[in-house]
Amino acid sequence: MCGIVAYIGAKEPLPIVLDGLQRLEYRGYDSAGVFISEGTKQQITKVVGKVAALREALSEKEVLTSKLGMGHTRWATHGQPAHENAHPHVSNSGDLILIHNGIIENYDILKKELQQRGYQFQSETDSEVLINWIEEVQKTENVKLGKAVQLALNQVIGAYGIVVYDRRNPEELVVACLGSPIAIGLDKEGFFVGSDATPFLDHTREVIYLDDNELALLQPGKTIQVRKIDDDSLQTPTVQQLKWNLENIQKGGFPHFMLKEIHEQPNALRDTLRGRLLAEEGKIQISSFNEHHQKFANARRIIIVACGTSWHAGLVGEYLIESFARIPVEVEYASEFRYRNPIIYPDDIVIPISQSGETADTLAALKLAKAAGAFIYGVCNVVGSTISRETHSGMYTHAGPEIGVASTKAFITQIAVLTLIALKLAEIKGTQSKSELRQLLFELDSVPDQLESLIEQKEKVKEVAEKIHAAPNCLYLGRGYNFPVALEGALKLKEISYIHAEGYPAAEMKHGPIALIDEAMPVIVIATRKGHYEKIVSNIQEIKSRKGVIIGIVSQGDSAVKEMANYCIEIPESSECFTPLFATLPLQFLSYYIAVLRDCNVDQPRNLAKSVTVE
Ligand code: G6P
Repeated sequence: MCGIVAYIGAKEPLPIVLDGLQRLEYRGYDSAGVFISEGTKQQITKVVGKVAALREALSEKEVLTSKLGMGHTRWATHGQPAHENAHPHVSNSGDLILIHNGIIENYDILKKELQQRGYQFQSETDSEVLINWIEEVQKTENVKLGKAVQLALNQVIGAYGIVVYDRRNPEELVVACLGSPIAIGLDKEGFFVGSDATPFLDHTREVIYLDDNELALLQPGKTIQVRKIDDDSLQTPTVQQLKWNLENIQKGGFPHFMLKEIHEQPNALRDTLRGRLLAEEGKIQISSFNEHHQKFANARRIIIVACGTSWHAGLVGEYLIESFARIPVEVEYASEFRYRNPIIYPDDIVIPISQSGETADTLAALKLAKAAGAFIYGVCNVVGSTISRETHSGMYTHAGPEIGVASTKAFITQIAVLTLIALKLAEIKGTQSKSELRQLLFELDSVPDQLESLIEQKEKVKEVAEKIHAAPNCLYLGRGYNFPVALEGALKLKEISYIHAEGYPAAEMKHGPIALIDEAMPVIVIATRKGHYEKIVSNIQEIKSRKGVIIGIVSQGDSAVKEMANYCIEIPESSECFTPLFATLPLQFLSYYIAVLRDCNVDQPRNLAKSVTVE
């Protein structure tokens, strides 16, 4: 996600801001920029690329000595990584400067309104809309910056962590947040701001974390003033003393990025669904579907191409789309598809799925399908990535940067996007009744909260990991929607713990893997109540008779599997189509804890790359 750094006070801001941005590099970003100001003089410098390039660009300039600095690393969400889309953003009058993390959902409506009032935009970003919206409010209400920001934010839907500066009032910075954290560092001479405390840790250990819906005025020499954005009530912020080391903070206090990213999944999912799933209205809103309505309405077949974890998400997509929209789906390894002279029809929709958007085989498969005349609808996480640029249209997963090599939150959000696609197609094709769809939307809307509670089961998973971490092999079984989850569980374990693991459709067990089962073989079975439960229970009996160590992933309140299994992890009861979103989480925790117990390098497993840009 984007990174924010700002400083106002007696110290020289530029080194603080640049070092701070460097510290935020772990968050992932594609462009960077700084703003510095001294009285009436200001300078903005932006680059597409890394902070090192920003330093270089600054070294070629005559840089101001300044009193205030703002810096930003941008992880693209609206608009590609480009100079004009990089932050800071300036309002039309040139008076207001903003850096922003988060997504403004109603930016389109606000932008149209501003355009009608004569505003012009240099970038494609929602952030530039926000700073101009603040400017418009300030003009019409004739108020100071703090009030204007507050009024403007009350009209904004979305998530934000912002720092705003008004060059007519150089002694003040306004910061605010909702759903995107802001940390404020305090010392005698001034204020530091960061999207976490990493950027200013070597300057001060005294920090205030703004709560959601709070706005603060930072004026050196004065006490910080914090108010609620919605009701204007004055708050008494708590000053905390930070004891963490730098590395801890970058990982949000988690020992590994993978663990952090597993924990981020409820929020990642909220970001994926935000603005798209309108449960109250019984609607799914996907703007790219409106543009290409006919293509989707006439699709004869859908072909999903992907690699690794994304391919597993694609398999879940096959179950979802076929079941809800009744459109035939094929899921192909991109590396096979590209070399096997596949049959592609002009009324096929080809969906490449890729977290990085750079995987060489997926890109090649996409190009092949495009050349054959298919409509290419991509599902990517990294905005502006090569795959996202090569597609005709598509959806971003909005999982935020994934740094651990083993994919976690990207998988969950890919499944969520595919669920939205399947349900939207069902709506278009009329294959589900309105009431059925409505019910499903409500259920989907509740998944992030339920996932949050499921995280609390991690200690139980850890106990299981302690029992089985020395096993040389593991088997993962699931049926229906959970067969791909079994594959993904096995892949996670292989990737980070180097235990040989295989995922199988549970009923296929008797055609081979059953020969491997003895008292030394842990068998992880996804046995949720909805979806072939009785059949899975029979499979479990077969494992038990052969003395396999059974680890059941079961629905809350299960009794039959519990009687037979050695260990059980409960997940929330849900419609079968949503079980992958829950069943995946304990499997991620299991592989994580096993890898830690085996002393493996969790975030950078041997021989693996996060982004495979070669064949
Ligand atoms: C690599 C990564 C996997 C990922 C796969 C596909 O193997 O280690 O985690 O699933 O590439 O990557 P993509 O970025 O296309 O989803």
